[in-house]
Amino acid sequence: MAHATESMHGMWSSRFMFILAAAGSAVGLGNIWRFPYVAGENGGGAFVLVYLGCIALIGWPIMTSEILLGRAGRQSPINTMRELTLRSGANPGWQGLGWLGAAAGFVILSFYGVIAGWAMYYVISLASGAFTGADADFASAAFDTFTKDAGQVVFWQTLFMALTTLIVARGVGQGLETTVKYLMPMLFILLLVLVAYAAVTTGHFIEGVSFLFSFNLEKLSWNGVLMAMGQAFFTLSLGMGAIMAYGSYMPKNASIPGTAATIALLDTGVALMSGLVIFPLVFANGLEVSAGPGLMFITLPLAFGHMEGGQIFGTIFFVLVTFAAITSSISLVEPAVAWLVERARLSRWQAAVAVGGLAWFIGLGSAFSFNIWSDVKLPGGLDFFSTMDFVANNIMLPLGGMLIALFAGWFIDQQISREELSLNETAFRMWRFLARFIAPVAVFIVFIMTFV
Ligand code: PHE
Repeated sequence: MAHATESMHGMWSSRFMFILAAAGSAVGLGNIWRFPYVAGENGGGAFVLVYLGCIALIGWPIMTSEILLGRAGRQSPINTMRELTLRSGANPGWQGLGWLGAAAGFVILSFYGVIAGWAMYYVISLASGAFTGADADFASAAFDTFTKDAGQVVFWQTLFMALTTLIVARGVGQGLETTVKYLMPMLFILLLVLVAYAAVTTGHFIEGVSFLFSFNLEKLSWNGVLMAMGQAFFTLSLGMGAIMAYGSYMPKNASIPGTAATIALLDTGVALMSGLVIFPLVFANGLEVSAGPGLMFITLPLAFGHMEGGQIFGTIFFVLVTFAAITSSISLVEPAVAWLVERARLSRWQAAVAVGGLAWFIGLGSAFSFNIWSDVKLPGGLDFFSTMDFVANNIMLPLGGMLIALFAGWFIDQQISREELSLNETAFRMWRFLARFIAPVAVFIVFIMTFV
């Protein structure tokens, strides 16, 4: 069967645009909100070391695999997996991988939209000067009052999801590419401004650096290793088809392994730089880094409230978080939208509203976890929000990623992988070795160790 050189949904206009879009997907709440607090909870340096190892040995080969599958299939992940399974004569069961990814997308979006909504609210809140000179009680009370108000949380979640839906509805070129083309450069500039701000004004920059890079392995538990691995998948947007969908719009002439490495480097750079903004601010104000999910919403506004220029730079910070969240959430919606368009012949608008609406609806469960449903525990003992986060990061993404690596490494017709990657023999074998053995085995071991 002759296969498509273009996707019916559109194409990125260049390799650079693909990098911006995929980096946009990767850089998100995972980098700025999640990475610093998870690193803080797990003792800093040792966690960071394992995380970096996971990015290089698991993240890079799996990202390469995902882009390769996407570009070879040129359709939504569900149909790409179907076509590649057939074309390679593999067990039809592999088609399920596309569905697993779509499900993971809804699970992630459901809580992602809620946290992104908080970030938007905090833009207004910091801009208004509410935190200037505020004390710790005020900062945590402000967070409590806001999150306990279901109406407020749902309002901001709805706004964020509507924005996401609107962008995706406009299509790959007009919607996705236009958005990342403007937001990503701004994001990088704002981040540099904030790092400079933290370096110049806190007087605790070196402490932040050493917190991130003092590799103290004694502090690390198996649970910490699982968290580091889950974080690597989440932060690179791997294991659910977002990168596969984006890869299906990638021009043929661009190098997949090189591009994957660039994206992984950019993403890791942003995570570390976020740490270098957040930790010095926290240390300068004598606060705790292990504050959990509230680190960004309680500790940080408090810190900004006591800094010179904190009102302006605090506002900039939450604008940055909002931008990062938008360029990620559109990639969470895209796989399911592309599938609906292919399958049900819906217009993009109809498909985007359907997917965005369903994710919004499931997300109400997460929005309510902080207020009217705060006492409701799902099987496993966690609330709805924490369950979604745990299931997506620690189960669905690593499982999806492991299967993607196995499929690309073992089961796909080798002509396809060789042609897409166009590496020399040594480099091809190196990638294949990582995809066949290292990445899946590493994921498997971490799984076993945490569940035993
Ligand atoms: N990578 C995004 C982040 O770090 C989250 C994400 C996960 C986006 C999976 C798409 C797919 O915030």
